[in-house]
Amino acid sequence: MPAVVIVGAQWGDEGKGKATDLLGSRVDYVVKFNGGNNAGHTVVIGDEKYALHLLPSGILSPGCVPVIGNGVVIDLDVLFQEIDGLNARGIDTSQLLVSANAHVIADYNRTLDKVNERFLGSRKIGTTGRGIGPTYADKMNRLGIRIQDLFDEKILRAKVEGALDLKNQILTKIYNRRAVSADEIVETLLGHVERLRPMVADTTLVLEQALKADKTVLLEAGQATLLDVDHGTYPFVTSSSATTGGACTGSGIPPTRVTRVIGIVKAYATRVGEGPFPTELFDEDGERLRTNGGEFGTTTGRPRRCGWYDAPVARYAARINGVTDFVLTKLDVLTGWDQIPVCVAYDVDGERVDEMPMTQTGFHHAKPIYEYFPGWHEDISAAREFSDLPANAQAYVRAVEAISGARISTVGVGPDREQTIVLHDLL
Ligand code: GDP
Ligand code: IMO
Ligand code: MG
Repeated sequence: MPAVVIVGAQWGDEGKGKATDLLGSRVDYVVKFNGGNNAGHTVVIGDEKYALHLLPSGILSPGCVPVIGNGVVIDLDVLFQEIDGLNARGIDTSQLLVSANAHVIADYNRTLDKVNERFLGSRKIGTTGRGIGPTYADKMNRLGIRIQDLFDEKILRAKVEGALDLKNQILTKIYNRRAVSADEIVETLLGHVERLRPMVADTTLVLEQALKADKTVLLEAGQATLLDVDHGTYPFVTSSSATTGGACTGSGIPPTRVTRVIGIVKAYATRVGEGPFPTELFDEDGERLRTNGGEFGTTTGRPRRCGWYDAPVARYAARINGVTDFVLTKLDVLTGWDQIPVCVAYDVDGERVDEMPMTQTGFHHAKPIYEYFPGWHEDISAAREFSDLPANAQAYVRAVEAISGARISTVGVGPDREQTIVLHDLL
C-alpha cells in the first residue's frame, strides 16, 4: 500500500542515493520522478562504488523494479551508456520500466543549454549543461518530444520539425551557430527505438496496480527543495519539481497514497552552481568541509560550495514536503571541530528573521545568526548505534533535530551502506 517519498532538503547531493539504496531491498518499486542526468547519486556497497545519473538508485537492489517516471527528461544516449556500464559490472537492469510520457532530451536542447548560459554571462545559473532547462521549457511550451513519439515516425518527424522551426532561427540568428537538421535528429532518436521498446510502459497504471497489490513504492527525487522550480531559490534552480508535490505529478501516484516523506539533509550544507547560500564559507572551515566531505560534483566534477547547517532551510523543506522523517547524513565529516556553528535564524537588513524570507532579495541579504555547539574529535565512522556516538555528537544531532521541523530517524557516519545509525525505521 504505501508510497514513500525521498526528497533532498537542501541544495542537492545530500545523500539521496545512499538513502534510496538502503531501503532498496525492502521495497518493490523505486521511481525516479523528476530531473534527468543533471543528478548524480553515489552509492557505495562494500568495495564497489556506483555513480548513477538517470537510473533510479533502486536499480542496484535485486528484486526491486526501477521505474523512470513521466516527470523525468531522458537523454537516450546516457540511458543506454548507464545501462551498459551497470551490465558490465554484473548488475541486472532487465526490469527497468520507462514511462511512455517521459520527455526526451534532444541534441539541440543540450546545445541550447550551453549557449544560453554563455549568453547570460554574469547572470548565468551554472547549469550542468545537460539540456535539462530547454527540454522542460519545450514540455511547457508544448513543443516537447515524448518517449511514445519515437514509436510513430510521422509524428516524431512533425514534432522535431515543429520544434526546430523557431530553434533554428535562434541558433543561427542570435547565437551564430549552424542550423540543426531535423533528419539527423529523427534518425538518431529512431536509432534507439528497438532497444527502448521493451522497457516502455504505462507506468502510472503499473504503479497503481502495484499499490493495489500491497506493494511498496519508493519515489526518489533528483535535486532538492531549494532547487525546485516553484519552491527553490528561483531563478537559481533546476527546471523540475523536486519536492513531494512533484513526486505525485512526476509518477502519477496520487497524494492520498503517500504515507511517508523522508527528507535527506546533510549535517552541514553544500550547493553547486550559482545562487544565494547564506551559510556559505569562504575560509579554511569551508575548505575543510569540502576536503573531508569529498564535496566535488558527481556529474560535473565542480567543487561544491560548502557552509554550516541552516535550520530555517531544513524547516522550510520540512514544511514544503511534509517531511515525516529526516535522514541526517555525513555527520562524520564534522569530526574534528572544537565547536560547530548552526544557523538558527537570519539577520536580514538589521532585522531578525526566523524563517525563509518571503522574497528572494531578502534571502540574498540574509546573514546567518549562529548558535555554537561543542564538537568532538573521536572517529565516529564505526558507530552503528546512537549510543556509540560521543556525547557531543549525540547532542548535536538532538539540537539540530529540535529546530529542523521533523524527527531525525537515521544518521549517516560514512558512505557505505553499513555506516548508518537507525533511530526509527523508515518503512
Ligand atoms: P545525492 O545526489 O543526494 O544522491 O548525493 P551524492 O551522491 O551526489 O552526494 C553524497 C555523497 O556523500 C556521496 O559521495 C555519498 O557516497 C556520500 N555519503 C552519503 N552519506 C554519507 C555519510 O553519511 N558520510 C559520508 N562521509 N559520506 C556520505
Ligand atoms: P542531485 O540529484 C546539486 C544545480 C546545477 C545548477 C542548477 C540548474 O545529485 O542532488 P540544471 O542543469 O538542472 O538546469 O542546473 O541546479 N543542480 C544540482 N546541484 N545536485 C544535483 O542533483 C543537481 N542538479 C542540478 O548545479 O545550479
Ligand atoms: Mg548528487
